[in-house]
Amino acid sequence: MPRPVAEAARRVLVCQGAACRERGGMDARHEWLLALHGRSMVVVPTACLRFCLHAPVSIVYPDGVWLPRLTGERVREVMRALDRGTLEDVAGAIVARTDGRGGDGG
Ligand code: FES
Repeated sequence: MPRPVAEAARRVLVCQGAACRERGGMDARHEWLLALHGRSMVVVPTACLRFCLHAPVSIVYPDGVWLPRLTGERVREVMRALDRGTLEDVAGAIVARTDGRGGDGG
């Protein structure tokens, strides 16, 4: 049975808009669903995230990490990074700061 969203430690938004679907978003969603087995995560398909130039796009919350060009093949790379405790070293990852420091790391 799928884990209720409110109970999950992480939520993965996987864009299923037209540009993302054309560039592998459905495969990425499928790989996310396979990868989350046994983890406190849920996969939430979304409409267009307005980041189409970087399709396919996923976002991991509460980490606030946008993952551009996240094809299904790269989902395992992201899962290994999650196991190490951070997504910031995933190639192309964009950390959306919520601590008022801005997004440039400064
Ligand atoms: S279709 Fe995915 S960001 Fe627009």
